[in-house]
Amino acid sequence: MLAKKEGLSTGILLIIICLMATVDDIKNQFEKDLKNVTDIELLEIKYLGRNGEINKLLSEIKNIPDLEKKIYGQKVNALKVSINQLIDTKKKELQNKKPEVFFDKTLPGKVYPKGSLHVVSLAVEEITKIFEKIGFIRVSYPEVDWEYYAFEALNMPASHPARDDVETSFIDAPAHPKLGKMVLTPHTSNGQNREMKRVGKPPIRMINISKCYRPNWDATHTPMFHQFEGLCVDTNITIANLKGTLDYFAEKYFGKGTKTRLRPHHFQFTEPSFEVDISCTVCKGSGHVKRSFDSPPPGGSLRMTTSKENVVKCKVCKSGWLELGGTGMVHPNVLKEGGIDPSASSGWAFGFGIERVIMMKYGLDDIRNYYSGDIRFLEQF
Ligand code: FA5
Repeated sequence: MLAKKEGLSTGILLIIICLMATVDDIKNQFEKDLKNVTDIELLEIKYLGRNGEINKLLSEIKNIPDLEKKIYGQKVNALKVSINQLIDTKKKELQNKKPEVFFDKTLPGKVYPKGSLHVVSLAVEEITKIFEKIGFIRVSYPEVDWEYYAFEALNMPASHPARDDVETSFIDAPAHPKLGKMVLTPHTSNGQNREMKRVGKPPIRMINISKCYRPNWDATHTPMFHQFEGLCVDTNITIANLKGTLDYFAEKYFGKGTKTRLRPHHFQFTEPSFEVDISCTVCKGSGHVKRSFDSPPPGGSLRMTTSKENVVKCKVCKSGWLELGGTGMVHPNVLKEGGIDPSASSGWAFGFGIERVIMMKYGLDDIRNYYSGDIRFLEQF
């Protein structure tokens, strides 16, 4: 129609149709680009810049006959205004949007230092397993307990020196009419009477592990420490059973070939009572070790030494034996107090320090290091 009316050649007509279609194509392309835009400035340059799509469209106007120029010009201008507005709106939208945190998936991850169990916790686990294997039940009794369980029930009269406040920490709280004052328990033996009453009648095989408190502070004593207490009550329990159990524990915990020995001692709650020693883990019970570089021979280090001079006293034990802790056959009064007939049953008990057995196992010289919080010391275990 246009061609007939205005006498346009088919070629010109085709150009006009193509240009009009190009405006629509540019419009569609812009809408697509706007949707996926990552850089709005680049988009603005692409469409509105000096060599942008709109100017390219406008530069075609010279190829269009005068009458059609207006229609084409209006169409391109309308697109220009619309692109302008849409770009402005997008810019505002992007300005209000919080910048996304850049996350680079290809970066290597942060490696945080690995923690580990404390040396005392490790020993508690190890000791528990050793005794559970031979039928002992792990229990844990109060760290803050009544005088009755910590002393009276253990055949320790009120006049016993361990009940003095120089030896034991008392809690500033009202006393129990029957059980006496509250104490920070100085040993795990407070679990003996509680366990006898809990189980009711023999057999009893208890391993009680808990924190204990005594006002001491030196290389082998801390105010808070841990003990593990074994208690075995049944018919015909003898010192032979006790010795067998101690030997079993010594071999399992300290290593094959470790021996135990019993020395007479005194505890109010056992009769007879003993101190237990184990053969030294460093000199294997001989009391002597080969000279090390930090112990030169008498008379200087350049002199030739005899093989006898090359053997020195073991610094760890000095005698071949290391003291482990206290033990003995449970006193009849303690069995009676726990509701057990001493004429029908007998038993043994022991109480050893956890910090001490760790010290003996690894040849350490100061248990205060366990609680120093020094990671260099603790990460060795
Ligand atoms: C007792 O505590 C007895 N109740 C053990 C016992 C139980 C004997 C059953 C008989 C039958 P003793 O006071 O010796 O005994 O302590 C036992 C162990 O606890 C010591 O060998 C030591 O290794 C540890 N120990 C005691 N006081 C401290 C302390 N302040 N710091 C670290 N370890 C300690």
